[in-house]
Amino acid sequence: MRRRWMSAVAVTVAGLLSLTACGGGGDGKSAGDGQAAKKQVEVFSWWTGPGEADGLKAMREIFEKRNPGLTFFDAAVAGGSGDKARALLSSKLQANQPPDTFQGHAGAELQGYIKAGKLEPLNALYDELKLKEVFPQQLVDQITYKGNVYSVPVNIHRSNVLWFNPKVLKDAGVAAPPKTIEEFITALEAVKRTKKIPLSIGSEWTVVHLLESVLLGSLGTDAYNALWTPGADWSAPALTKALGDFKTILSYAGPAQDDWQPASKQVADGAAAFNVMGDWAYGYFHNPPDGGLGKKSKEDFDWVASPGTDGTFMWLSDSFTLPKGAPNRDGALAWLKVAASKEGQDAFNPKKGSIPARKDADKALYTDYLEWDLAQWANGKLAGSIQHGVVANDAWKTAITEAVGLFLQSKDVAKLQQALVQAAQTNNQ
Ligand code: GAL
Repeated sequence: MRRRWMSAVAVTVAGLLSLTACGGGGDGKSAGDGQAAKKQVEVFSWWTGPGEADGLKAMREIFEKRNPGLTFFDAAVAGGSGDKARALLSSKLQANQPPDTFQGHAGAELQGYIKAGKLEPLNALYDELKLKEVFPQQLVDQITYKGNVYSVPVNIHRSNVLWFNPKVLKDAGVAAPPKTIEEFITALEAVKRTKKIPLSIGSEWTVVHLLESVLLGSLGTDAYNALWTPGADWSAPALTKALGDFKTILSYAGPAQDDWQPASKQVADGAAAFNVMGDWAYGYFHNPPDGGLGKKSKEDFDWVASPGTDGTFMWLSDSFTLPKGAPNRDGALAWLKVAASKEGQDAFNPKKGSIPARKDADKALYTDYLEWDLAQWANGKLAGSIQHGVVANDAWKTAITEAVGLFLQSKDVAKLQQALVQAAQTNNQ
């Protein structure tokens, strides 16, 4: 395979979970377990919003059909990208009150939970369901530690997508969507002249999300991937240039929206031209009203690789875990079996706007954007997402988020770079 996975998943002891590793009870019962509590399965995620909740609902329906004796308890905490959910999860884990299962990104984020001793290995489940045969080996590597495998990946998402409104581009005289950072800046300037919002953004995490696409597009794939290897030079002039590009691009952003959905909606509604967002935006644009916006692909919205990143798939993967001390361990395993199954993944992913982690999924279900996505995944180079837990663990990511937050006030590229150098020195060992 010509896959280029981040072999070195940057792992340091995550600040998030650096309190006492509890070791958990592991007896599968919580204090005061009644019959009803035993039957309930608490599934912790951040999929509450439009688009996201549709996918979860599809998988939940299969779970309920397969397990009439169990009740699905949706413990989702609102907030795109899960920063809020993970803060609450952290305090639950520290208090040894885990949910039965929780969502964790494959890569550095998951390795943080593993190293803090919060998760049970899932080797027996992998053997029973022969899961090593159906997930790409490189993905299994990202959720493995010392020979044990610790989560069930349900999907692959792409982070580096430039969503755009074709009509807004046309009205601005932009003949084709931008392929490079320079073309992107020219197009943003053209849209600005029409008084539409050139680039929509949401809350702070969406700006970190934008940053990862700009770094990849400006530095190139190999230099981006090298940033996550020990001793990488974050003070290099190429990074100064990339951060300058980020500053220029951000100067075209409209007012920050509450989260990713309202920012993406500005594009679908024709209020804004561009939005850099992961492909969960596709589920939101495309799903019928209720969960989604019911918009027409290629007419109301369209997409290309984010500028400068064509041929590279910046990936992330949602996976589910078995925390040590899960009150309903058997119920959690029943959920993991659905999450691992072809039926579960093929119900979840077309709604979620992602492609299945399983290699044997039914390709006919993945049409339109998702067909493109599958082809890109099969043929592209790979890079790992920052914001969504692949390359930087929670402590490092928090430091990057803080640096970006300060930059939004100061607009000082030198200070941003200095803070990123510092963040790497502290965390990239
Ligand atoms: C990511 C997550 C996706 C999607 C997105 C926006 O971190 O992996 O599944 O939910 O956040 O909320």
